[in-house]
Amino acid sequence: MQKINVFDTTLRDGEQSPGVNLNFEEKMEIAKQLERLGVDIIEAGFPASSQGDFRSVKAIADQVKGSSVTGLSRSLKKDIDVSWEALKGGAEPRLHVFIATSPIHMTHKLQMTPDQVIEQAVEAVTYAKKRFPHVQWSAEDACRSDLDFLVRIIEKVIDAGAEVINLPDTVGYITPEEIKNMFSYIKTNVPNSDKAKLSAHCHDDLGMAVANSLAAIEGGAEQVECTINGIGERAGNASLEEIAVALKIRNDFYQATTGLTLHEIKKTSSLVSKLTGMVVPNNKAVVGDNAFAHESGIHQDGVLKEKTTYEIITPELVGVNANRMVLGKLSGRHAFKEKVRDLGYTASDEEINKVFKSFKELADKKKEVTDEDIFALMTDEKVGA
Ligand code: KIV
Ligand code: ZN
Repeated sequence: MQKINVFDTTLRDGEQSPGVNLNFEEKMEIAKQLERLGVDIIEAGFPASSQGDFRSVKAIADQVKGSSVTGLSRSLKKDIDVSWEALKGGAEPRLHVFIATSPIHMTHKLQMTPDQVIEQAVEAVTYAKKRFPHVQWSAEDACRSDLDFLVRIIEKVIDAGAEVINLPDTVGYITPEEIKNMFSYIKTNVPNSDKAKLSAHCHDDLGMAVANSLAAIEGGAEQVECTINGIGERAGNASLEEIAVALKIRNDFYQATTGLTLHEIKKTSSLVSKLTGMVVPNNKAVVGDNAFAHESGIHQDGVLKEKTTYEIITPELVGVNANRMVLGKLSGRHAFKEKVRDLGYTASDEEINKVFKSFKELADKKKEVTDEDIFALMTDEKVGA
């Protein structure tokens, strides 16, 4: 079974979500929860970007020992020096250094030739390796880069000491089939690719970040970069919880696993949502409020007879206590009867039938019938608890 390293960037790329600004204590609380969740690598921030980021990356590196802590750095000596000061107290100091490799970025943003980009990348990795035992190198906008240029530059940065090669889909542009082919092309054509792990870092502009991350694994990625609840720049990053649970549930297909403590997922999601102010949509896979809720009578009846009829993930797997039957106009007698029993009533079938009629009338007027509504109906129909 292939082990996939989970690199969480909630505190770096995730914090780049418009409107999100975490303070020192909040970052520390999230980092400790990520450690409990068992992520392999925590990207705690971008130390050279601000004093605040430097301080929180340093504190996280000094205090979190169960995960490897890293920080982002441009390919500049002064950034690498600042990052070393922030990260040197960590259990396994690790630098994440990047430079853009796509023609669009090299021409318009960097205003450098491809050869100059190779030179700067190699210089940065060589310099970083003098300090850091572990160096990850990223080709920003890799998925819009020329494949043969990527092969050239990757061979050189591996020779310079990079042990992880991250190929981001910076603008969320690629498709699953393309990214799978890209990863297998790099693995096959970079002569020293066996000396480094390949990593995927997908953005969600076209809603394909999770599918692309999984396809990259099929193509040979051994690390995925993701964020809790998929928060991040623009439309966000690949959701950690969706990738992890997909690998668990479709293990038969991917033949790969993470080392995560999956039952910490819901708690981690709620914490990140509360501290960032980014609300998790009800229908979000794995962690949304409706992820384990059943509303239609046919589904409720099926689940009450056998959960696997409509549930492929058990709520307990991700730390949710139980599934939820939502009582509404589509609910059937079976779910209604179970709910009445859960609320402590020992009603006869005749009483249930009577109250069920009033319940249906009420459900036609309301989106969701609550426990309080049911107590009121039972009282109106004089059924004792
Ligand atoms: O999306 C991206 O390209 C990044 C890199 C800096 C790793 O976040
Ligand atoms: Zn990114």
